[in-house]
Amino acid sequence: MAPSQSTADVSVIGLGRVGLPLALSFADRGLEVLGIDNDAARLDAVREARMPFAETGGEELLERVHASGRLSLSARVTDAARARHIVITLGTPSFSHIEIDMRDIRSALDDLLGVLAPGQSLILRSTVAPGTTEFVAGYLAKHRGFEIGEDLFVAHAPERIAAGRFIEEIDTLPCIIGGVGARSGEVVAELFGAFAAPIVQTSPVQAELAKIWTNILRYSNFALPNLLMMDCERYSANVFEVIDLINRDYPRGGIAQPGLTAGTCLRKDFAFSEERSAAPGMLLAVSRVNESVPLFLLEGAKRRLGALSDRKIAVLGLAFKADTDDERDSLAHKLIRLLERELADVVVHDPHVPTPTVSLAEAIDGAEVVVVATNHSEFRDPLTLATIAERAAADCLVVDPWNCWGAAQVFAYASELALLMPTPPSG
Ligand SMILES: NC(=O)c1ccc[n+]([C@@H]2O[C@H](COP(=O)([O-])OP(=O)(O)OC[C@H]3O[C@@H](n4cnc5c(N)ncnc54)[C@H](O)[C@@H]3O)[C@@H](O)[C@H]2O)c1
Repeated sequence: MAPSQSTADVSVIGLGRVGLPLALSFADRGLEVLGIDNDAARLDAVREARMPFAETGGEELLERVHASGRLSLSARVTDAARARHIVITLGTPSFSHIEIDMRDIRSALDDLLGVLAPGQSLILRSTVAPGTTEFVAGYLAKHRGFEIGEDLFVAHAPERIAAGRFIEEIDTLPCIIGGVGARSGEVVAELFGAFAAPIVQTSPVQAELAKIWTNILRYSNFALPNLLMMDCERYSANVFEVIDLINRDYPRGGIAQPGLTAGTCLRKDFAFSEERSAAPGMLLAVSRVNESVPLFLLEGAKRRLGALSDRKIAVLGLAFKADTDDERDSLAHKLIRLLERELADVVVHDPHVPTPTVSLAEAIDGAEVVVVATNHSEFRDPLTLATIAERAAADCLVVDPWNCWGAAQVFAYASELALLMPTPPSG
């Protein structure tokens, strides 16, 4: 039963890249939603129907919800208790101690402690270390005497949607729910039943493990081709040819392509396993491989050109992955820092991110090295290659771990790449 003071169906605490699309999607399905964030600029943007970050279809969704009047906003976490369901979508970084940093969740929990009432549910949508949901339930039982699963409901319902695909995947990606006690799973399933995605009930710790291992799998999957790329350089072998040899007509799986593997989730979720791992160091090694790709690219350029000081180096891409404006934990920034420590003259172009960058032409004009740090669609366009061939220095080195133009070389001279360009029709 909903508490008597209830004025919304669901509150969402933390209107970030996970929380805002979720809050909007609930409202779009007809629920009365209260969105909570302590960032005044973010609240202003949402109030004015401006998406604070790019999400495919997000603007239209926000406009629709704005017109419906079903989303209210607040800066106070305690207001969340006006709804029957409270979903926490706060950030959960990791400390450099290889340990989850749950200060935001602890702070929200303490704010909510005095205002929660029987009949409400508290749902952790944030990614958390195994055991966190039981900790939250235990904390509420200890300090308020709730019987979790009977009079207050606590569950982990992890977000596994990739940024940029939210609107498409919220109705298709199975929704995992790990409820504490007898009835939490069932109560929380009523909320997520607003979406068409199948609901899979499990225990809280299995939900936590499933989420973090979804990301650990991706992070490790990309570390393998990245390590292979470095091995290939050592043996003067071509990583793309070796990958083709591995994958071609092989019936038992295959290896991914190399690239700069990072982002706010992959770079920290492994730590939630590593903090009490049975094989300490294994996932740290995965992280070290991915983290060393920028240095590998820099050193590869140095091996071919000598010192990089005073050379103009164009870095294409600041976002952590293709076609997003999200720069958080992007390895492009690390690459730039390393290049600047070589006293190179670094210029950057990225058509998506909020950080101001120069135009493609300006970045490439006279560049002696072009590094493709992010495989944005715009860069994969042959026109970008044509611009490099026309405007970069004659002997420009192009560093492209993504194989954007099918050249199948991590390090290639612009003159070699130019041969790949389609010849204009004659006459
Ligand atoms: N970004 C993704 O693609 C993604 C995907 C799956 C899961 N996750 C997980 O979801 C969680 C949220 O990630 P995110 O990328 O949306 O984070 P985010 O940093 O974009 O969003 C967090 C929001 O919470 C707000 N906030 C912080 N402290 C607050 C407080 N005390 N009170 C009210 N608001 C507060 C911030 O202003 C921000 O808007 C994390 O656990 C993350 O690991 C993220």
